[in-house]
Parts: sequence; C-alpha cells; structure tokens
Amino acid sequence: VRTAAVIPAAGRGVRLGPGAPKALRALNGTPMLIHAVRALAASRAVSLVVVVAPPDGAAEVKSLLDAHSLPERTDFLVVPGGESRQESVRLGLGALPPGYDIVLVHDAARPLVPVETVDAVIEAVRDGAPAVVPALPLADTVKEVEPARVPGEPEPVLATPERARLRAVQTPQGFDRATLLRAHETVTDNVTDDASMVEQLGERVVVVPGHEEAFKVTRPLDLVLAEAVLARRRL
Ligand code: C5P
Repeated sequence: VRTAAVIPAAGRGVRLGPGAPKALRALNGTPMLIHAVRALAASRAVSLVVVVAPPDGAAEVKSLLDAHSLPERTDFLVVPGGESRQESVRLGLGALPPGYDIVLVHDAARPLVPVETVDAVIEAVRDGAPAVVPALPLADTVKEVEPARVPGEPEPVLATPERARLRAVQTPQGFDRATLLRAHETVTDNVTDDASMVEQLGERVVVVPGHEEAFKVTRPLDLVLAEAVLARRRL
C-alpha cells in the first residue's frame, strides 16, 4: 500500500509576529517547511509529499524544495493553498494521483516530528484504522469557559473535563484515503483538524502515542524551543 503526505503550509502565522509566511521562516537557517518535508520523507513508507503553498507562493516553494537536499526515492508536488487550513488540505488532496491508499496530513508548523511517530501512524492505518491521530496527555488542567466578548474580561468557567481522559493531538494524522476524501466532501463546519471531520462521519478514529518534539510552532517562544531541539539533536 502506497502512502502520500499532504503538508498544509499556506498559513500566514500571525501569532508568530510580523514576517514571512510561517512555514517559510527559518529554524537554524533552514525554512520550517523544509524541516517538515524532510521529517515526513524520512519515513521509507512515504513515496509522495504534496506541499500546499501560500496562494501566491507556489513558485517560491518549488524553488525552495529544489534548493534543498531531499530523499531521491520521494516525489514532491506543490499546489497553491486557500483561505482556511481545511481548504488548503482539500486542494492538496485534489492533487493526489491515484494509487496512494494511505494519506497523511501534516502541519508544516510541526517541523520536528520524529520519524518513529510518522511510522507509528502509518502502521495503525495499515492495521485497519480509518483515521489515526498521534496525541499526548495534557500537563495543564483544561477549563471550558464562556468566551469573553471583550478581550481581557474575566471569563466564567462552565466545566472542567477530567484531565486524564483528554489528549492534545498532533500531526501527522493518518487516513484511509477514501475516508478522508469523503470527510472533506461532506463536512463543511469550520474544524481545526482532519480527524474531527472523520469523527463527524461516524467513523472510528483512534489515538496512538505522539511525541513531545512534534509540538506546533505557533508563538515566538516555540521558535526558541525548536532551535534548542535541533541543537540537542546535533550532539
Ligand atoms: O493556523 P494553524 O497553526 O492551525 O495552521 C496549521 C497548519 O495549517 C499550518 O501548517 C499552516 O501553514 C496551515 N494552513 C494552511 N492554509 C491556511 C491556514 C493554515 O495551509 N489558510
């Protein structure tokens, strides 16, 4: 069974501060997107990577991929993305040639995911799960609140879900291709991950252990952490 990875990288990264689109910013001198592409292509099972570029940045992303060393056994495609992450993923799926029955969706914003996590997700899909999500237990207790109408106002707490039953989910999320396509054709709600669309179809979604190095680079402090992880890996 052949596996393809779709990497949405079309976000602007507003929370990271002013600058280039998030995926094109450098970590230790190499664009975050290149780290993410290498992380997925490091899996011997992944034979195609589809990068979803900022809408006006497909040519720039193509030349970035050409300028960096990437595994020869992997094919690469670049397509322009859309307004939302969901739309970007949909556009990436539209570019998939036939013959890839397992599809991973991986945020460019998680550039340091270890190959062991990628392989664990693929294996769980091969073992028959239509949708697989890597996830970790939470360190923080989580409250559900009534969001403030004015930012900064105190927010009433509505509930405290039992922490031991909660998981913080990461990517790559892995799917049986037909299930993921059906989810993207059917679900139009605004969601923040692909697995939740499959949940809405009523299909089984399972969690496998994630990895602390698969964290999402969102805020400036995350860049500091990412560079520290890279420095530690070089030791
Ligand atoms: O904004 P957030 O951090 O949730 O974005 C997750 C991933 O989705 C990032 O890799 C980002 O580049 C991508 N994205 C996208 N198209 C958008 C918005 C986000 O590909 N319109």
